[in-house]
Amino acid sequence: MSKQETECWASSHPPGGRTCYRVVMWLAESVDRQMLDACRRTRAEIVKRMQQAGGRGARGVLSEAQRELQTLNRSICRAAFAFSTRAQGVRVGELRAALRSDAGVLGYRLGGTAAEVWLELVDEEGVGEHIARWQHALPDVSWCAESIVEQVSSQDVADMQQEAHAAGAECAEETAEDAAEFSHTTVLLEETTAALRAAKGKVMVDATLGGGGHSERLLQAGASVWGIDQDPAARAAARRRLVGYGEQMHVLAGNFRHIKTLLHSNGVDAVDGVLADLGISSPQVDTAERGFSFMTEGPLDMRMDPMLPRSAADIVNEASETELADILWQYGEERASRAIARRIVQQRGHGRIATTTQLASIISSVLPRRGRQHPATRSFQALRIAVNDELGALDDLLSSGLSLLRSGGRMAIITFHSLEDRKVKQFFERVTRPEIDRPEWPQPRPNPEYSARSITRKPTIPGAAEVTANPRSRSAKLRVIEKL
Ligand SMILES: C[S@@+](CC[C@H](N)C(=O)[O-])C[C@H]1O[C@@H](n2cnc3c(N)ncnc32)[C@H](O)[C@@H]1O
Repeated sequence: MSKQETECWASSHPPGGRTCYRVVMWLAESVDRQMLDACRRTRAEIVKRMQQAGGRGARGVLSEAQRELQTLNRSICRAAFAFSTRAQGVRVGELRAALRSDAGVLGYRLGGTAAEVWLELVDEEGVGEHIARWQHALPDVSWCAESIVEQVSSQDVADMQQEAHAAGAECAEETAEDAAEFSHTTVLLEETTAALRAAKGKVMVDATLGGGGHSERLLQAGASVWGIDQDPAARAAARRRLVGYGEQMHVLAGNFRHIKTLLHSNGVDAVDGVLADLGISSPQVDTAERGFSFMTEGPLDMRMDPMLPRSAADIVNEASETELADILWQYGEERASRAIARRIVQQRGHGRIATTTQLASIISSVLPRRGRQHPATRSFQALRIAVNDELGALDDLLSSGLSLLRSGGRMAIITFHSLEDRKVKQFFERVTRPEIDRPEWPQPRPNPEYSARSITRKPTIPGAAEVTANPRSRSAKLRVIEKL
């Protein structure tokens, strides 16, 4: 199952010593009715056993039944949150406001179709009244009539608060929703959607959802779309933009390298189109805090998925000189890779290199500016590719994406630099060649990988008007194949 789409928050107040509860509530349709009925029966049995055991003071039985009950509750909770990748569901903003304005709420986790809340009873109200008030924040949503309510210790709550604070990145969804408008101009929009032949009844995967520009056009053509993005800010923006399409649009959190698993775990075994518009979106580059740009001061981060373990700063400060030089050379084709790596290692002897502008000026001190390109351009591209393992993910996407296509389905990939384009071109050539030949063979042999035909003999590139209107599109190249 993919990483769940959740927003975590904890109040700055620790529990005040009153009784605390963990409450899980979910949308009616998000947990299968049969599962709920089975759980209800099992729960009733467990509660009966607990009562009997409690009466006789049989501690072992009591704690075993309690454990069983917790396991059961956890499985319902998992099911409720597992559904959370659906585009429609809890409108996080409204529920968030209701929870945060409730003095008893010490923290929460919100998904698209479920909420887990940590509550301390601070006044005369009971748990049920709190739940009713939270649910009332979304009066037109059909909540399941029952909820999980478990008494928890203050220590459990304190641990949860610590976890939520530590996982600050998980709150990115919320920050993203609050953030300024997500503005990304979609590249090669008409060319891509025409190549994919989107129509009613077709199922498409937009593996790089971004702000939802391509997805929107596919939806308008009548297709249903599964949109994947590893960036919570992008997913939040796309959700907002595409919410009107209801069940026609599904948003999935994760890396497109897991495209098959992501789709399979949502019951989709084959699709009619796979689209990837590679690289980063304009808001990612333009948001200084994301650390992608050497033009603005920001933390040296560059993670598209804020939960990735290694940021650009970790690489710059911890990789060996050889590793650094290899990254700059392989992913940036930077000819001064060794000199830059040497200077970085010297500089980090004076303290951690923490910001984008710090790194940019170190690179500029090795490499004077020549022409229009900033000396740090290639190194920043290289680090970004390394942090996000972009080329490894692309390899996985190409092979998994093709195997996910049904016969006649198409894969359209837009690249923005030569390393990506080379990979796509070579992969497409490999799978569209009926035969392979080698000088040592007397005659060509059938190609075991032959499974597609080429739709774009040469890559499609943006016209002059598009480049003028959106200069970032200038290096875009679209290649398309069709599954045999
Ligand atoms: C160029 S933008 C896509 C813009 C989109 N086509 C639109 O029109 O709004 C690329 C998006 O792909 C996402 N992305 C890049 N690599 C990814 C990966 N390996 N897995 C999932 N998402 C990825 C980025 O986070 C970014 O939001």
